[in-house]
Amino acid sequence: MKNINDTFNYEVVRQFTLAALVWGVLGMGMGALIAAQLVWPELNFDLPWTSFGRVRPIHTNLVIFAFGGSVLFATSLFVVQRTCKTPLVSPYAASFVFWGWQLAIVAMIASYALGYTTSKEYAEMEWPIAVWVTAVWAVYCYVFFGTIAKRTTQHIYVANWFFGAFIIVTAMVHVINHVAVPVSLLKSYSMYSGATDAMIQWWYGHSVVGFILSIGFLGMMYYFVPKQADRPVYSYRLSIVHFWAIISLYIWAGPHHLHYTALPDWAQSLGMAMSIILLAPSWGGMINGMMTLSGAWHKLRTDPILRFLVVSLAFYGMSTFEGPMMAIKTVNALSHYTDWTIGHVHAGALGWVAMISIGTLYNMIPELWGKKQMYSVTLINVHFWLATAGTVLYIASMWVNGITQGLMWRAVNDDGTLTYSFVETLEASHPGYLVRLVGGSLFVIGMILMAYNAWRTLATPVQQLSPARYPSTAEAS
Ligand code: HEM
Ligand code: HEM
Repeated sequence: MKNINDTFNYEVVRQFTLAALVWGVLGMGMGALIAAQLVWPELNFDLPWTSFGRVRPIHTNLVIFAFGGSVLFATSLFVVQRTCKTPLVSPYAASFVFWGWQLAIVAMIASYALGYTTSKEYAEMEWPIAVWVTAVWAVYCYVFFGTIAKRTTQHIYVANWFFGAFIIVTAMVHVINHVAVPVSLLKSYSMYSGATDAMIQWWYGHSVVGFILSIGFLGMMYYFVPKQADRPVYSYRLSIVHFWAIISLYIWAGPHHLHYTALPDWAQSLGMAMSIILLAPSWGGMINGMMTLSGAWHKLRTDPILRFLVVSLAFYGMSTFEGPMMAIKTVNALSHYTDWTIGHVHAGALGWVAMISIGTLYNMIPELWGKKQMYSVTLINVHFWLATAGTVLYIASMWVNGITQGLMWRAVNDDGTLTYSFVETLEASHPGYLVRLVGGSLFVIGMILMAYNAWRTLATPVQQLSPARYPSTAEAS
């Protein structure tokens, strides 16, 4: 009888995996470029398309939609086939999703470089690109849910619940936030105005954080942490409880981006309250992931991939503690507009999103190309330390900068005048920007090593697939 594993469609998973590596290096490289521009403004080169204002959305869209998106497509389409024990519903539709998404990314980058933007953060794409993304996403929905519908298992594994919620809510907020009146092929105006426009934008913005950067990656966590640790999920019941809690709460937290604005005060307070409650289900996920290692902690000594996965969970716990604290209005009065927000973003983005993606890709690559293991385990180890040191330098420097800026901006003299000019706060921030550049560059070097390691893995002759791809402690010692 034909082995079920041979029927799976790994072609699209391999394509998205390679795309993730390319976009990862490029997107984070752009992050390092804008970090350098904040240290040495001459690096804007006095050209419009290399200016900070244009490269910044290129960075954010590349890391979130191109890198993060590709990892999510790859893993969701890998996991859904394996846990439902059925191949994808349509290989053609899956291939359309891959090429359609790549086209959307190229269109986004080109249009931002040329200055075409809606100016809504993470929703900068002009209307023709937004319509195209909607079409590609609709086909992705068909591929994912169509595969679930034809599953040969009775049960739907919890990772698919998380992927499913990420897919549905992303579709909903993308469509609603992009409703606009086009006035030409590359210019449109939002359907909403004033505080309503701001609220819809941040309802969308926080859902990008919640459903793409958190819930999608939690789906990944529920499959790859147990797989790499070779242990069952710590508590299946906890996974279901925190799933329902997290999806019902995230959608309400958007107003914490609009504290002290024209948004009605009650809406700001509601957003604050929901954000504080959000700590509980976020930590439910983090604890469930961590505790899955019960009885397998010794594997951390020899398995650098597991280290990536566990450290990512630690950063997830940290950033989802920090976020609710920053959502408290009095804390936000200090943190808002400062580099503290940037530090929080990258604690989540580098520490959680990038680290769990890296661990997962290292887990999948050998299997997808039928190799025994990655070309060099030493390089994975080096990558782990570069990524960890880079993240710590990045977020620590931004905390110091953020609190310094917040305190300097609010300092007043006895006669009511400001104690510091804005330029003085910039001077005080300069050393922190340099440290952030060093940290970010370490992270990018790690990504380049990963791309090299992956390329060498693919280039080595096909080996037999081995279930135990890393030595156990007993074997190693
Ligand atoms: C090598 C790594 C990276 C470096 C050096 C880097 C650097 C930067 C810099 C300099 C900014 C602009 C900050 C400002 O305007 O003051 C930024 C913004 C941002 N980056 Fe990164 N980044 C990196 C990786 C990532 C990754 C992997 C993600 C997401 C998965 C990410 C997501 C973001 C987001 C969402 C913003 C906008 C933050 C906001 O508006 O509050 N970055 N990054
Ligand atoms: C319980 C979970 C979380 C809560 C309650 C939360 C809360 C917050 C708050 C209060 C801000 C500052 C808003 C401002 O002053 O402008 C913020 C910004 C941000 N957070 Fe979180 N956060 C959480 C988790 C995360 C995670 C896990 C990530 C990333 C993976 C993340 C990514 C971001 C981004 C990208 C921004 C910047 C948005 C912008 O201004 O462009 N957050 N978050």
